[in-house]
Amino acid sequence: MINTLLICGGGGSEHQVSLRTADFIERQLCELEEVALERVEMDGNGRLTDRHGQVRRLDQDRMLRDENGGAWEVHYVIPAIHGYPGETGDLQSLLDLFGIPYYGCGPEASKICFNKVTTKLWLSALGIDNTPYQYLSSREPEELAKASMALEEWGQVFVKASNQGSSVGCYKVSSTQELDRALEQAFALSPYVLVEKCLKVRELEVAVYPYEGKLVITPPGEVCAPAGSFYSYEEKYSDASRAVTHVEAPGLSEAQVSWIHEAARRAFVGLQLKDLSRIDFFLTESGEIYLNEVNTFPGMTSISMFPKMMAHAGHDFRRYMANLIRAAVNRQS
Ligand SMILES: Nc1ncnc2c1ncn2[C@@H]1O[C@H](COP(=O)(O)OP(=O)(O)O)[C@@H](O)[C@H]1O
Ligand SMILES: [Mg+2]
Repeated sequence: MINTLLICGGGGSEHQVSLRTADFIERQLCELEEVALERVEMDGNGRLTDRHGQVRRLDQDRMLRDENGGAWEVHYVIPAIHGYPGETGDLQSLLDLFGIPYYGCGPEASKICFNKVTTKLWLSALGIDNTPYQYLSSREPEELAKASMALEEWGQVFVKASNQGSSVGCYKVSSTQELDRALEQAFALSPYVLVEKCLKVRELEVAVYPYEGKLVITPPGEVCAPAGSFYSYEEKYSDASRAVTHVEAPGLSEAQVSWIHEAARRAFVGLQLKDLSRIDFFLTESGEIYLNEVNTFPGMTSISMFPKMMAHAGHDFRRYMANLIRAAVNRQS
């Protein structure tokens, strides 16, 4: 038996979404005979509780302990946490320290991809096109002037807190008043802020993962935000979402698909990603293709693209997970 610990929640702005992702993973894994699954929810202080509300603690000797002296040896961890401290790589650092193998990217790749500024530096270093931007490191007048100039030059911009996901801290801005407010809100959420040129785009994304010894990059899927809006937190997760998704984007040319595949491969390999990622692209009206972001732990709710694109590619999530868990635990022993 491989004792697998599913850690979800995290206490941040994406806590609830993480629980839904964990539900999906749990449903898949409970059908695997060789996997014994325990699920714990983490709060904002790193405290773990199990499904009975009992406090649990993961110790350096890889034991998951309860308050009655019970202990369960952990062989593998699934950090199902969007945002801090899972998708940001912090929990993975601790797991590395304890020597417990886990699902997904290591701390370094996670950290790089979670910071929208750092991601851009890496993308440019890897020769992957990304949207024009300005970067603000403080609210000093000369930094704020960069944002005003960007708005003037581009007419409309996206202000983004650098260390957030799920469209939290992401604002579409068309006027100076909106800019001031957006910068204030973004700086309240993260130490760095990105001001990006707002483009009229189609939003394409690929799932990237190893399957039976090969790195798979799926055909691009597409999310269509409702007219006049963008792909906000609401549109991503609410039941009333008006966003339309296509598991395979219609009407792309072969050249466009291969361009996207080449960029996705370069990002996955160059950033040393592991096990999974959803890589998001913008296709602009004039035909440029920009890599928007790399999600090292994409959503896996019932309406999420990663599992849908994997299924569409004819791959079985259960088999994929079983292979990863088995291989990681074998490497360990
Ligand atoms: N430069 C841009 N031009 C047009 N739309 C954008 C731009 N940047 C972001 N968006 C819109 O905002 C959404 C969220 O931005 P994104 O950078 O993907 O942040 P998050 O990490 O929160 O998903 C995108 O899915 C898209 O709808
Ligand atoms: Mg996004």
